[in-house]
Amino acid sequence: MPKLVVVTRDGSERTVDGDVGLSVMEVIRENGFDELLALCGGCCSCATCHVHVDPEWQPRLPKMSEDENDLLESSDHRNESSRLGCQIPFTQDLDGLRVTIAPED
Ligand code: FES
Repeated sequence: MPKLVVVTRDGSERTVDGDVGLSVMEVIRENGFDELLALCGGCCSCATCHVHVDPEWQPRLPKMSEDENDLLESSDHRNESSRLGCQIPFTQDLDGLRVTIAPED
């Protein structure tokens, strides 16, 4: 089972197992991180699943859609490593992916 490394807002880091087929947002939620609200449930309409992805992993992620890009624009905490966790399918190839939960908007 691939691993996901999650850094929370207080800077603590935990490595969790993630089921292939879930999104990164779902893996984070299923492992009890309640600071990732994911209010829309993964429909790409809330931006409360905002994460910052470690730079070395970014080339391995699926391309950002226009909707995702537009939603991220609404965040004050957007930077070049920003993605929406619900828009990243978790796969075996992403074993070891490291993401930081973005500050709340
Ligand atoms: S959960 Fe709402 S945009 Fe990702």
